[in-house]
Amino acid sequence: MLPVAEIIRKKREAQPLNSEELAFLVKGFSDGSIPDYQISAWLMASFLCGMDREETFVLTTLMRNSGKTLDWRQLSQNFKSARFADKHSTGGVGDKVSLILAPLAVCLGLKVPMMSGRGLGHTGGTVDKLESIPGFSMRLDEKQMIRCLDEVGVCMMSQSSELCPADKKLYSLRDVTATVESIPLITASIVSKKWAEGIDAIVYDVKCGSAAFMAHLDQAENLSRSLVRISQKAGIKALACVTRMEEPLGSYVGNSMEVEESIWILKDEYPSPLHREIIAPLRQLCIDLSSEMAVLAGTRADMSTARVDCEAAISSGEAYRVFEKMLKTQGAHDNWFESLPRAKHQLVYESPEAGHVLEILSRDLGILGVKLGVGREKSEDSVDPAIGFEMLVRPGMRVERGTPLLKFHAHTPDALDSIRDALEKIFIIEDHPEKLRILGGASKTTNLLMERVHV
Ligand code: URA
Repeated sequence: MLPVAEIIRKKREAQPLNSEELAFLVKGFSDGSIPDYQISAWLMASFLCGMDREETFVLTTLMRNSGKTLDWRQLSQNFKSARFADKHSTGGVGDKVSLILAPLAVCLGLKVPMMSGRGLGHTGGTVDKLESIPGFSMRLDEKQMIRCLDEVGVCMMSQSSELCPADKKLYSLRDVTATVESIPLITASIVSKKWAEGIDAIVYDVKCGSAAFMAHLDQAENLSRSLVRISQKAGIKALACVTRMEEPLGSYVGNSMEVEESIWILKDEYPSPLHREIIAPLRQLCIDLSSEMAVLAGTRADMSTARVDCEAAISSGEAYRVFEKMLKTQGAHDNWFESLPRAKHQLVYESPEAGHVLEILSRDLGILGVKLGVGREKSEDSVDPAIGFEMLVRPGMRVERGTPLLKFHAHTPDALDSIRDALEKIFIIEDHPEKLRILGGASKTTNLLMERVHV
């Protein structure tokens, strides 16, 4: 075996590492025999020079095998003919899709063992949203997971230290060495965890736009192809949907608020026609992604049948019943809904001028949220589950001076004062005829899907 410095040099010269070299690095990093500074140098060399498909697959396999792996059919007789599927999103502002999609996917005949993360940076995390529910626990042991999947069809887990520990350690190091945004490293990190989950099919929701990890379509397509190819090599059926991430997803951005909003969709009951309009693209995305999962895993023959069945699951109340059962099975208190943390004040931010909403700078809104405690900057920070933003407009809408644009759900009556200037920069309101012509179309569309990538 080459010394570590020689392996780093090889990568620096853009040569692919072989499986023995990668195994040596991953094992040495995991057991502490190779120091962080050498792994950091290898990460940066990999970031700059890339990795070929074989290298990416080997790294994925090593990270997957660094911990426990789940094989549901071995774990229970009841799962012999079940289809296991999941969805993974690369992260968005107000992205509560998992909360709505998981019950819908169960209604389409799937088992959904969903492992989620906490929010980091300007995007939120499913764990933070669900943990705002009093009593709800995502730290499940194997027996509890089996019970949830058997009795409800879904289990929502936080990433445990047992699954892919090498990825957990490596991701923390990437976070502080500016090596996160590398397609092969992201691919190995995501696919290793999904593979360890023991699923048959995965749909990736690859966010694209100014508020996403991947700002441009070509980057999102490259990541999509990489995720799909490596998943398929691992024997998982895979599809990537590139979806627009220019405006917050839905009306609410805030942890317990997003739980409430998910219930509106599952029950198809909205506080007002305006909320229904703002939420329509999110609702459509949830139906489309759950339908894609069912078609990919083979529990539905085609997208139109799956979509009709999703609508029926919502209107019959079945989707909401699955959601409630999931909460109860994972420990939510009987009065969980009444006890959701809620902020006392809803402070209305009004438009300072008349015009059209050209843009809502969602990344900046997410970053403002992090400063206020909606999200977190560092993984050890805590979040405030009660506070958040309620969007009252979408891009393209006409507003007058004084039209409410947003409500800040806050703990104190004067909380809006300190963020008014920031909000003024987040809502871009203009009457520019050229830009409006483009947005006139965009605002009407409820379709966030830009492209499907099968490979
Ligand atoms: N999410 C992950 O789990 N890993 C990455 O590398 C990036 C996003």
